[in-house]
Amino acid sequence: MSEEQIKELEIQFEARIARDEKIEPKDWMPEKYRQTHIRQMSQHAHSEIIGMLPEGNWITRAPTLRRKVALLAKVQDEAGHGLYLYSATETLGITRDELLEQLHTGKAKYSSIFNYPAISWADMGTIGWLVDGAAIINQVALCGASYGPYARAMVRICKEESFHQRQGYEILVTLMKGTQEQKDMAQDALNRFWWPSLMMFGPTDAESPHTAQSMKWKLKRKTNDDLRQQFIDQTVPQAELIGLTIPDSDLKWNKEMGHYDFGEIDWDEFWQVVKGHGPCNKERMKVRIAAHENGQWVRDAAMAYAEKQQIPA
Ligand code: 3HC
Repeated sequence: MSEEQIKELEIQFEARIARDEKIEPKDWMPEKYRQTHIRQMSQHAHSEIIGMLPEGNWITRAPTLRRKVALLAKVQDEAGHGLYLYSATETLGITRDELLEQLHTGKAKYSSIFNYPAISWADMGTIGWLVDGAAIINQVALCGASYGPYARAMVRICKEESFHQRQGYEILVTLMKGTQEQKDMAQDALNRFWWPSLMMFGPTDAESPHTAQSMKWKLKRKTNDDLRQQFIDQTVPQAELIGLTIPDSDLKWNKEMGHYDFGEIDWDEFWQVVKGHGPCNKERMKVRIAAHENGQWVRDAAMAYAEKQQIPA
């Protein structure tokens, strides 16, 4: 294809993005657009399945059958979210095996938040409330993404996330109505997860190498900083309502701006965790790879069945 033809295709592509059209798998797209989507969508999928690990550890330790059922349903949902997102990523011409190899060899990232330990039952509440709460804010914006399969996957995922966030918040409401020890457990969980939850939205817009282009391609509809601010503005009143204190002495409502001012995020900690030096990075990857290897027989059986039934793999 000549340079002029490619130039013409790029102009048509940009016009489609400008008209808010959805780009579908079989449509022409710039290679960089495709690569950026494989990067973000696969890391999103990796985050979903790694995110199952901290919560999975608490299913057998849930305090009541109701809590156990809710947590079981949530963890199962996360697996489904990973499935939707891997399937959506595969429409861009990469295989599941390639994607998982990138995760297992450390070539691909997953959300930093899952590299922190979940050490008490209150962490299950805090993860649902803050982590899924942050994910909802991020994912509602992604429902308007330009790539059709990603945007549609988000619509389904967001519906399930709101149950995740609510069941987490309800755990904390219950603890904050309990004994002093239970209140202290809830506050301790918030103290440990507040700042890492703000880091989920990524580096500042000024530091982000991808945000500007992702906004142009309407992969991102809001920037990292905007989403982070939206999360803080929405979450602080929820904490205050149940008597929890946000661990940020600089947090203050800015009447003029209509937002909360907040303290400085520890970006050294963020990059340390992203680079693999967080509290649980090694453990999470070890458990994840073992789960994949131990599940080989299931994949073999499913493939053998598919072959026998002549079902296309
Ligand atoms: N954890 C790990 N890596 C992160 C990160 C985080 N919290 N935030 C940013 N990074 C990485 C980026 O991946 C990028 O590295 P790369 O070039 O190797 O991919 C680098 O830091 C620069 O960051 P940018 O902000 O420029 O990168 P992006 O434009 O990709 O923005 C993002 C980062 C905001 C996380 C964006 O990728 C995004 O919105 N992803 C989709 C949502 C998502 O993945 N959420 C993760 C949580 S999912 C979840 O919580 C599920 C729930 O059900 C529990």
